[in-house]
Amino acid sequence: MQKLDLKIINGTVANSTETFRSDIGIKDGVIVAIGKEIGDSERIIDAKGQLVLPGGIEAHCHIEQESSSGIMTSDDYYSGSVSAAFGGNTCIIPFAAQHRGQNLHDVLDLYHGRAEPKSVIDYSFHLIISDPTENVIKNELPDVIEQGITSFKVYMTYDKLIVNDEQMLEIMAAAKKHGALTMIHAENNAMINWMSEKLIKGDHKEPKFHALSHPRTAESEAINRAVALSSFIDTPILIVHVSTEAGARIIAEARYDGHKVFGETCPQYMFLNSSDMDLPEMQGAQFCCSPPLRDRASQEEIWRCLQNGTFQVYSSDHAPYRFDETGKLHAGKKPPFTKIANGLPGIETRLPLLFSEGVMKKRISLNHFVALAATNVSKIYGLDHRKGSITEGKDADIAIWNPEAKRVIKAEDLHDNMDFTPYEGMEVRGWPEIVIQRGEVIIEDNKLIAERGDGEFIHRKRIDCTGMPGRLAPELDHNKNFGVDIDF
Ligand code: URP
Ligand code: ZN
Ligand code: ZN
Repeated sequence: MQKLDLKIINGTVANSTETFRSDIGIKDGVIVAIGKEIGDSERIIDAKGQLVLPGGIEAHCHIEQESSSGIMTSDDYYSGSVSAAFGGNTCIIPFAAQHRGQNLHDVLDLYHGRAEPKSVIDYSFHLIISDPTENVIKNELPDVIEQGITSFKVYMTYDKLIVNDEQMLEIMAAAKKHGALTMIHAENNAMINWMSEKLIKGDHKEPKFHALSHPRTAESEAINRAVALSSFIDTPILIVHVSTEAGARIIAEARYDGHKVFGETCPQYMFLNSSDMDLPEMQGAQFCCSPPLRDRASQEEIWRCLQNGTFQVYSSDHAPYRFDETGKLHAGKKPPFTKIANGLPGIETRLPLLFSEGVMKKRISLNHFVALAATNVSKIYGLDHRKGSITEGKDADIAIWNPEAKRVIKAEDLHDNMDFTPYEGMEVRGWPEIVIQRGEVIIEDNKLIAERGDGEFIHRKRIDCTGMPGRLAPELDHNKNFGVDIDF
């Protein structure tokens, strides 16, 4: 029997479908044995009383990314990945953002150059597409997919990022043809602009009015439209950061009808609400994100949709802008809500919040937690050949959780490059105390052991929807449209 590099003994192991007592053997960065009497090892970690879980995969975060208004996030690939690792993650999928006029190859070169020397954990990118020219659709997108970037995000709002319905169809059709997933920021741009103008004209400029300016219907209308477009050509989409029950219901119904629609929500819609935006001295700006925080009733509804499986993905949407002139207040000390940088930090707190409020309070099972932490995104985003479960042959990416650890969340204890956390003062039970990336311990005793650049780019698989139901619209179906072949 070969000598192992690392053995984790006496722990309770959980995957998304099973929980069992077992030892785990690791060799050359890979899980090679699960069971008892698995042989000698260079190093042994005793995980008695601890939970041995797959490392988290954070699949929606903005790191070292310029926003469409030109503001750089406060985290680069070092601080962002370190903060993710301390929060129990071993892989991140941030965005590589195309701004209009940019070539996708240049965009990817830029983000590879940012991530490679700095990330302490493994990473991939989703590509943001804001300029879907013919060349982008016909040549650049297929190249990008070939390079292992198999998901794109498109925006139905933000004047400098928005794509129209026809452009969305082109992007979705290219994604279908080449095996990629389209992620959608679904909000109706016209409703947001119309409401914002009315509010500003009426001198309602404080941060709390940001919530009013993004009506719930703006979200549900856009989700409905995105679902209609994607089901027309029968291609998978994922609606990101859903904040309303109305939006979630459209996703649930589309899934019930057999369309390939996935849904994501985020901690801010479960743990925060719009009253947080009504704080003195512009502090409400710290809570401005899009879609905005909703009311307390919505929090409960979003929880329910997470419990019942309407949302398969739970991500932080970490979009870190400091409470100063480099971030939230880049347009002055008292900007109208329309000029406050949008986004909340949360890459380190995503999993501890869900573990504490979900697993410890018995709202979700430990296995459901694992599904939301890692397994579901590994499957949806084409990473499951490497990551997302504790299985022989997969990367030894493991987080050892102490379910009894008690912590109070404080900005000063977190490892991002932020000057606040929206979760300040919240008490949590359970924390990932040891984090292992491809067999190397990277967090232990509250210390980082990994070096800059230890993370590797992960080439993701093409998105394969074999086995998922779906049906092309009859107008596109050769057998039902008088034998016409529509080329898309
Ligand atoms: O307010 C947010 N969510 N900012 C980040 C950008 C995005 O749309 O996800
Ligand atoms: Zn978004
Ligand atoms: Zn985002």
